[in-house]
Amino acid sequence: MREAIIEEKKSWGERFIQLKLKEEEIAHCAQPGQFVMVRAQKGFDPLLGRPLAVMKVEGDSFYLFWEVVGRGTKILASLNLGSKLEVLGPLGKGFSLSPSQALIVAGGRGITPLYFLASHFKKNEVPFTFFLGVKNKEELFMVDFLQDFSGAYFWSCEEPIEGGFCGTVISLFQSWLKDNYLPPGSRIYSCGPEGMLKSLYREEKIRDIPLEVSLETFMGCGFGVCMSCAVEKGNDEGYFHVCKDGPVFLARELKW
Ligand SMILES: Cc1cc2nc3c(=O)[nH]c(=O)nc-3n(C[C@H](O)[C@H](O)[C@H](O)COP(=O)(O)OP(=O)(O)OC[C@H]3O[C@@H](n4cnc5c(N)ncnc54)[C@H](O)[C@@H]3O)c2cc1C
Ligand code: FES
Repeated sequence: MREAIIEEKKSWGERFIQLKLKEEEIAHCAQPGQFVMVRAQKGFDPLLGRPLAVMKVEGDSFYLFWEVVGRGTKILASLNLGSKLEVLGPLGKGFSLSPSQALIVAGGRGITPLYFLASHFKKNEVPFTFFLGVKNKEELFMVDFLQDFSGAYFWSCEEPIEGGFCGTVISLFQSWLKDNYLPPGSRIYSCGPEGMLKSLYREEKIRDIPLEVSLETFMGCGFGVCMSCAVEKGNDEGYFHVCKDGPVFLARELKW
């Protein structure tokens, strides 16, 4: 475990938090799709760290962005500037980084590892289009993150919003697919709720294009010893550990 210091904190209501953390080893080594196990330093509640994807790196610092869903994420959200966190990482295997063209499909907080991926593509001049789906007005602030990618993005909201596509990110993506051609060498990258990933995997029009998904499973240790993150292999030959075999997988390797 390493020690990281909170340098900046932003919050959107009580549900969404972003921290900038100073810890140079993670900032220098993290790759898009990798994650860190994070826990508050004081006390033993909760005992286990929580896995959070790296969103961005900047100098000797890196950013996390998360949704408060339970006890662990709530305790992390209560920490303030200057507090120290215990961080382990960067962990896991990230996304492949050299497609000829990329399509990125994010659902809600699933934007976190994909933002890092898109920043890498932008820096390395890999063409990409970003699709983001949010559930409601409260989550609409996430669309602002995409302004860093000038023009190469579309968004949807499940609540009617003036000027926005009304529906899920999958229906937005399907409507884009009707008018667009994907050249050989294209790749699709996704992270979001399980139902969204399943719908994407089943989409006929992208059957021949490799789809990489980043999974959010429960994790105990984060490095392969506790078995809490097991998911079934698609060929019925056992299990993957999401923490060390993933969290990014080719969708066709998994059981859906
Ligand atoms: C590799 C990886 C990267 C992740 N990156 C991010 C990220 O960047 N931002 C982010 O917001 N979240 C991310 N998550 C999910 C995050 O780790 C969980 O939401 C968090 O561990 C929940 O902890 P908790 O103590 O707050 O909730 P708990 O008290 O453990 O659970 C509260 C509720 O949330 C549900 N829940 C718990 N874990 C998950 C989960 N993984 N998926 C769906 N529902 C869950 C439980 O069933 C329960 O209903 C990531 C998960 C993984 C595996
Ligand atoms: S989280 Fe412990 S084995 Fe994966």
